[in-house]
Amino acid sequence: MQSLEIRKRFLEFFRERGHIIVPSSSLIPSDPSVLLTTAGMQQFKPYYTEEADPVKDFGAKNTASIQKSFRTSDIDEVGDETHLTFFEMLGNFSFGGYGKKEAIAYAHEFITKELGLEIGYVTVFAGDPSTGSTSSLRASSGQVIPADEESVEIWKTILPEEKIQKAGREDNFWGPTGAEGPCGPTTEIYINGVEIWNIVFNEYYCGADGAFTKLPQLGVDTGMGLERLAVALQKKKHIFETDLFAPIIQKLESFPSRSQRIIADHLRSAVFLIADGVLPGNKDRGYVLRRLIHRASLHTNRFQSLELTEEGMPFPEFLTPLSLAGLIIDKYGGVEEYVSLKEKKEEILDVLKAEQEKFSGKIRVGENKLNKLIRLHKEDQTRRLKGGEIFYLVTTDGLPLEWIKDQAKMYGLALDIAGFEREMEKHQEISRAGIEKKFGGHGLLLNTGELKAADEKEVKMVTRLHSATHLLQAALRKVLGDEIEQRGSDITASRLRFDFSFGRALTDKEREGVEALVREAIRRDFVVIIQKTSFAEAVRLGALHMKNRSYPPEVNVYQFVDAKTGEIFSSEICGGPHVAHTGEIGEFRITKQEAVASGMRRIRAVAGM
Ligand code: SER
Repeated sequence: MQSLEIRKRFLEFFRERGHIIVPSSSLIPSDPSVLLTTAGMQQFKPYYTEEADPVKDFGAKNTASIQKSFRTSDIDEVGDETHLTFFEMLGNFSFGGYGKKEAIAYAHEFITKELGLEIGYVTVFAGDPSTGSTSSLRASSGQVIPADEESVEIWKTILPEEKIQKAGREDNFWGPTGAEGPCGPTTEIYINGVEIWNIVFNEYYCGADGAFTKLPQLGVDTGMGLERLAVALQKKKHIFETDLFAPIIQKLESFPSRSQRIIADHLRSAVFLIADGVLPGNKDRGYVLRRLIHRASLHTNRFQSLELTEEGMPFPEFLTPLSLAGLIIDKYGGVEEYVSLKEKKEEILDVLKAEQEKFSGKIRVGENKLNKLIRLHKEDQTRRLKGGEIFYLVTTDGLPLEWIKDQAKMYGLALDIAGFEREMEKHQEISRAGIEKKFGGHGLLLNTGELKAADEKEVKMVTRLHSATHLLQAALRKVLGDEIEQRGSDITASRLRFDFSFGRALTDKEREGVEALVREAIRRDFVVIIQKTSFAEAVRLGALHMKNRSYPPEVNVYQFVDAKTGEIFSSEICGGPHVAHTGEIGEFRITKQEAVASGMRRIRAVAGM
């Protein structure tokens, strides 16, 4: 049964049983507590709590939908046989319309009669342990939620007892992660050992403080992943073999399977995110989208640039992320629920193209270098990328370390990671040598215009605050977006002052978010490295600098790098001095924010041991 037919049958089944079909809500949720829509129930939250009336809004107490869903937690796992970022969730919902008996009967009938599948087993909530200190299995408030005996009894009238299993809070209780909302025990249907359908009985409201209160009425919220269901119905080994991915996976036949899946998943997600109005950026949803496009581009472009498959075969067709995304749009645009993709095709491809070209431009030099190094070391005895080579690929050529590791592994090369870390240390020493030259002025020991210190002790403080300023700018861009630009800074031994373009005050949440990011960067103890390069090259690689200032042809780029992951947290053209490790900055706190001119904000902050 093809996916088109599955969607149709699901909606038909519930329509015939008194459900109103509600269109998917946008991937951008109206609920600000979540970044992206992760479940079908999200758009229905107010109906469970009786803040809104389903009869008034839908004409019935029962609804069904196919919800576009996205789970960011799985991004790094994509590439295996099971993980996805975007997926379609089939769900039926009831807000006081029916209870456990009907919900279970519908699910059973749909799976076994309508689809002709056999249920492997089901699980039911076993209840919290009433004694003992296994608090992680209980509500954080200490409340004990009883076992769902009612569901067990209902299943017993349908399935043999050995097919009914019980499990605790971790498996059979659903609630909003990290936010408040309706929650309750679940019963789940498994086919071939895989969870197919999650049926949630919203009996409680989980408060922000972790306390449970009984909801006035029982709510039903079910979710079934279309992709998994298609695996079972189409008798496939995994999701990427189903018709949902077939056209794109076929095109990618000569690619390694991990790349096939990353490209297929990420481009499909990117298409749907852009269609719902997400644009690539430095923060939140925009950053998720940017990562998806970058990774999909890396995996797609590799072969074109390497000119050798794993087996050394030529490629049958020149593929681009754009042509592949076009295929996805054509396929999904043919589905009634997603016809708007067709209308937005050009717009979606334009956004994708712009981001992909910018990224390709940035990493082209690095990719070519990496390809040459791979060829070189495949031939020589070492069969290994040297520490120094990795260092330059990451810091000057902007290649993600994860990608270099991936490539090396794929072509059977080892990586000298210890050497990479030693190379970082070496660049720190150079940066320290650079600092010394700045000292020994008159009156003030250090005066760069922005940094002022009278003695050695003050130099140390000012240095810490200066590094904190770089972290602050990087954090501001992650929270407010990369449109903000530095307008000036002034750092003394007791505080830093940072001016930037932005039209309004930061909200409490934004300010806390910025502080948290800076503290996190300090805790992760990033290595601060310095490299000399031409101004043009520094700009090409995205090193921050001030637009209204003139720079010499040769500049220093300071980067704050996670030595373990190669993540570059901050990259700025700067004269120093800086700490060697961000851990030296100590505690960080924003003390004040104010407006200094229209469209310009000022932040003051302190740091110290
Ligand atoms: N809310 C539940 C889930 O996301 C069921 O729809 O699994």
